[in-house]
Amino acid sequence: MAGIYIHIPFCTKACHYCDFHFSTSLKNKTHLIEAILSEIEIRKDYLKGELIETIYFGGGTPGLLSKKELSAILEKIYRLHSIKKDAEITLEVNPENISAKYIKEIKSLGVNRLSIGVQSFFDEHLKWMNRSHSAKQAFSSIKTAQNEGIENITIDLIYGFSKLTTNQWKENIDKVIALNIPHFSAYCLTIEPKTALAKIVSKDATLIPKDETSLNQFNFLIEKAKDEGFIHYEISNFAKEKCFSKHNSSYWKGSSYIGIGPSAHSFNSFSRQWNISNNNLYIKSVSSNKPFYEKETLTTKNQYNEYVLTSLRTVWGTSAEKIKTEFPEFYRHFIKHAEDLLERNLLKKQNNIFFLAEKAKFMADNIALELFAD
Ligand SMILES: C[S@@+](CC[C@H](N)C(=O)[O-])C[C@H]1O[C@@H](n2cnc3c(N)ncnc32)[C@H](O)[C@@H]1O
Repeated sequence: MAGIYIHIPFCTKACHYCDFHFSTSLKNKTHLIEAILSEIEIRKDYLKGELIETIYFGGGTPGLLSKKELSAILEKIYRLHSIKKDAEITLEVNPENISAKYIKEIKSLGVNRLSIGVQSFFDEHLKWMNRSHSAKQAFSSIKTAQNEGIENITIDLIYGFSKLTTNQWKENIDKVIALNIPHFSAYCLTIEPKTALAKIVSKDATLIPKDETSLNQFNFLIEKAKDEGFIHYEISNFAKEKCFSKHNSSYWKGSSYIGIGPSAHSFNSFSRQWNISNNNLYIKSVSSNKPFYEKETLTTKNQYNEYVLTSLRTVWGTSAEKIKTEFPEFYRHFIKHAEDLLERNLLKKQNNIFFLAEKAKFMADNIALELFAD
C-alpha cells in the first residue's frame, strides 16, 4: 500500500500565517506542470510497483489547476503506476475555486475527495489572515460541492489566534456540524518565522495568542466533536466512522509515499527525501537531468523517533510490541519513559499500546520528546 502526493506550488494570495512552499506568480505554471509530468516519469520506480491506494494534490492551491492540467497529471500517474480500483483521490481547493462546472470536471477525472481551506466562517478573520475568499463563499462552496455529489469533504479550520473569541470558535464548529461534513482538520495557529504574521505580532504583542485560550478552544473542540459523533483520530483531525483520510492515515501508519513537485517529501521507511523548494530551480533541474532533491538515510534511531512521534498523535497509539520487535535496542528506554508518563497520567495503556491521555493531547510533541532516543 502506497500513496502519491503532488505539490502544486501556486496561490493567488499569500496567507499571513503560511510558510508552505508556493509562489503567487502563476507565470511559470505551464512549465511547472511539464516538470511535474517529467518527475512522475523519472521517478516511476521509486515505489517499486506497490499498489497505489491514494493520490493527494496539496499545495499551494491545487484548485488552480485546470481540467486539462489535472487530467494530464492523472493520466501520467495511471499510465505508470498500478492504481487501486477505488483509490482515494483528494484535491485541496480554496472556496473561490469551486463552481458547479469545476466540480463536474474534476469528478469526471476521478477526484472523489475535496479538502477545502475554509479556516473560519467569519469575514473579519479571513481578512486578517489575508485569505482570498469570504465567509459566504466558504459556506456556499461546500453546498455546491455537496449538490454536485461530492460527499467526502473535509475542511481546514484554524483556532488559537488572537482575533478568534471562544464564542466564534463554537460557531465555526457549529457550522461544520450544520453542513454535515464527515471530516475536518482543526489546527492551532503557529506563528512561523519569516511569515507576514511573525512580523505583525512582533510589532504588537497583544496579537500573540494566549496558550490558555488556545487550550480552552482545543478542549471545547474535542468535547463537542465527540458529542457529535466525530472520532478524534489524530491530534488535528476529526472524522465520522469510515471517513478517515486514507492518505494521511497511511503517512501516520508509516506507509511509503512519493512526493512530486517542488518541496514535496518522499518516504520509504529507510529514507526520506525532499525536493527543492524553488519553482524555477525545480523546473531547470528536472528538465536538465540535474539532482532536484536531498536525501537522508534514516538510522534505526531516526525510525524509532519517527514512529513514536507520529503514532502517539493517533487513535491507534504507540505499540510497545512493535517497538520490541522492530527497534529492540530502544525497547527498555521506551518502557522506562512510557511507564513514567503513565504514572504522571499523561499516557494511558491498553493491550500494551500507549495512548495520550486527554489532558496530554495539547502537548503531544513534548510528550513524544520525552520518549525520544537521543
Ligand atoms: C497546505 S495548507 C492548505 C493550503 C490551501 N491552499 C489553503 O490555503 O487552505 C493546509 C492547512 O494547514 C493549515 N495551516 C497552514 N499554516 C498554518 C499555521 N501557521 N498555523 C496553523 N495552521 C496552519 C491551514 O488550515 C491550511 O489550510
